[in-house]
Amino acid sequence: MMRAVVCLSLWLVVCQVRGSYIPPKMNRTIYNLLQHYKIPSRERFNGKPVFSRDPLAGKMEAKRVFMGGVLETYEKLIGQMLKQLPTPTPQTAGSNELPGSAAIADGGEVGAGEDVRTQLSYILKKVQELRKHRYQEQEKLLQELRDLKHIQMDNLVVQSKALWELPWLYEEASSLYEIKMERRKRRRRRRQARRVKTRPSA
Ligand SMILES: *[C@@H]1O[C@H](CO)[C@@H](O)[C@H](O)[C@H]1NC(C)=O
Repeated sequence: MMRAVVCLSLWLVVCQVRGSYIPPKMNRTIYNLLQHYKIPSRERFNGKPVFSRDPLAGKMEAKRVFMGGVLETYEKLIGQMLKQLPTPTPQTAGSNELPGSAAIADGGEVGAGEDVRTQLSYILKKVQELRKHRYQEQEKLLQELRDLKHIQMDNLVVQSKALWELPWLYEEASSLYEIKMERRKRRRRRRQARRVKTRPSA
């Protein structure tokens, strides 16, 4: 569990660093949390990230849907991490304080002495905001994908209706594939045309 958490936190950091879209305070908070969620380097860099990056090599739309799923998973994960924290009581408040948490104090909401809970909540809020503002469409799609898995396979009405809907859906699915191939062919033809045009006439 811990290992997964750290790997994916780090992955989040590494991914965001390229474009530096991550607010400095969020970045600092993550590094602070990593002091709490410690694992050996050989485990962190064992070549098995929590979230595969293969989907990110694909088409833009596929990437966005995948990232919507990643954000959703982070929300659940951080929720779980919050649940696993010891509940603070007046006497022991501060016992789950972060060793290096003072470093985070820079006129922010996450000040010196803020505990792991506060920092996790802050990270959760950032993830939720990104998902809510930028990934609504993908979220809907993911929900619809999940719903597909829950249809009642053993229900006669479902079976019959599904059969009736298949011709249209089959056509649609085939034509999506055709459109893709057609686009590819057209691109190739255009490239060839350009090559012919730029070739010096003999
Ligand atoms: C995030 O923090 C780490 C550690 O302090 C630093 O090395 C890295 O450059 C920071 N990344 C960004 C994008 O600010």
